[in-house]
Amino acid sequence: MIQPVPMSPDDLDEVIRIEHQVYSHPWTLGNFRDALAAGYSAWVLRQQGELLAYCLVMEVPDELHILNLSVAAAHQGKGLARELLRHLDDDAQRRRCGSLLLEVRVSNTRARALYENAGFRTIGLRRGYYPAVRGREDAIVMRKPVPPGQQVPA
Ligand SMILES: CC(C)(COP(=O)(O)OP(=O)(O)OC[C@H]1O[C@@H](n2cnc3c(N)ncnc32)[C@H](O)[C@@H]1OP(=O)(O)O)[C@@H](O)C(=O)NCCC(=O)NCCS
Repeated sequence: MIQPVPMSPDDLDEVIRIEHQVYSHPWTLGNFRDALAAGYSAWVLRQQGELLAYCLVMEVPDELHILNLSVAAAHQGKGLARELLRHLDDDAQRRRCGSLLLEVRVSNTRARALYENAGFRTIGLRRGYYPAVRGREDAIVMRKPVPPGQQVPA
């Protein structure tokens, strides 16, 4: 198991390379810089110096909103996204957030399967939420309750 470490501005060149690999409409460098400057929490998974995966979340009252979760193309299917989600579960417990929340493209069956298997359930639909190659695409909104559980060490 690889321990996630906080994302720093020095990680952003590699993050952007992965964004362009895995998304049709990637976040920009400015999006990440703004998010980090705004105090959003973000983590990366690194192994032997290589950045493999990352996630970024925003805390809203009683909820941890997952804004980005991505795994480099060459490292998908190895359980890294599951590992990041476990880390976010712990983080939500630490912050005493009652749930994790996210949006996912309707067409992103892989990510939807990941989230379903991790205990997320669909709670709504945002019409035309994402830009698409032609027009816009709907987002499914998914939520996972986070039990109060035991105190998780920081
Ligand atoms: C979606 C994504 C994050 C999954 O990351 P990953 O590290 O490959 O996923 P994991 O190896 O941890 O797999 C966990 C679960 O995801 C699902 N999954 C992963 N790869 C899959 C595939 N090729 N087909 C279907 N389901 C798949 C499965 O439910 C899997 O559980 P299982 O192994 O018990 O079947 C990754 O494919 C990715 O970065 N995609 C591009 C960016 C993206 O779409 N991010 C999500 C935005 S909401």
